[in-house]
Amino acid sequence: MLSTQQFSLLLLKWNHDFNRRNMPWKGINDPYKIWLSEIILQQTRVDQGEKYYNSITTKYLTVSDLSLAKDDEVYKLWQGLGYYNRCRNMLHTARHIHQELNGIFPKRYEDILNLKGIGDYTAAAIASFAYNLPYAVVDGNVVRVLSRVFGLNQSFYDAAGKKFFQSLALELLNKKKSAEYNQAIMDLGATVCKPQLPECNQCPFEKKCIAKIENRINELPVKKEKLKLKVRHFHFFVFEDKTSFYILKRTSKDIWNQLYTFYMIETENEKVKSKDNIILKSINNSPQVFQQVLSHQKIQGYFHINNKITEKEIAHLNVFKINKYELEAYAFPRLLISFFQKNNYL
Ligand code: ADE
Repeated sequence: MLSTQQFSLLLLKWNHDFNRRNMPWKGINDPYKIWLSEIILQQTRVDQGEKYYNSITTKYLTVSDLSLAKDDEVYKLWQGLGYYNRCRNMLHTARHIHQELNGIFPKRYEDILNLKGIGDYTAAAIASFAYNLPYAVVDGNVVRVLSRVFGLNQSFYDAAGKKFFQSLALELLNKKKSAEYNQAIMDLGATVCKPQLPECNQCPFEKKCIAKIENRINELPVKKEKLKLKVRHFHFFVFEDKTSFYILKRTSKDIWNQLYTFYMIETENEKVKSKDNIILKSINNSPQVFQQVLSHQKIQGYFHINNKITEKEIAHLNVFKINKYELEAYAFPRLLISFFQKNNYL
């Protein structure tokens, strides 16, 4: 069995000799940029997240610059990343830091953890990467590496499991090199100890790894129970004329808050009825159908096109007119982007 010290030594040696993973936020110590990268990576893969990180940090060089941006401008940059609560919390936190903390990012773990949108993982990542403070990150990569190397049958997905992995990770952490160590274990998980087809011959723990020795690599880590996705049916009414679409901004607590959509009605199934005359007239028996899968729900989108309306007829629906050539200026859910792309508007 590997000792704590051996684990850390082998990991850091692998990091120095073999780890060539390159990412724009790696090795920097600007807490603002680290924070941004970690918020993006909370629910997004590194290869997809990189371009969003680059565009946000290029446009807003400091947390104060970001705090002064217009909501719509930032949502537009976030378009396609999903989980828009992250964007809302990010703006809230940027404004809090600018207005209440003189634009200075907090330096203590507890103060970082208190910021909106930041949990244990993100606070540990910022505290260690920006300030080299001795906090261990525990994300999916880390859980996979530890579960396999130590042959752990413990699930991470309940309170006891979280505590268990948190305390093991902290015990293993090299407290003097927290930044380097934390990045190294995540990189090992992402590039060598991968979920499928891990490259054990590249791994510094190959000879000591319990999962490898006992042939349990595919059983570990213990998987999360899959939730059944709730299916939701959204009917969109595409009011258009030659040059314009009519859209609205969503402002409810539901998904897609602050994004733009067509006027829409949610129903129990694919059928839709209405007492509103203009909606009734717009219902198409074979609408265009698109689908978007989110973390807990599947959205079935039905697009009913009506290009024979007058502005007056739809005024009561609180939609407003935009030019078809200015679609780029608005942040739309991915489902609507699919519709626009399929119909050659984007
Ligand atoms: N996932 C979350 N944060 C990360 C980081 N700093 N490097 C690689 N993957 C990550």
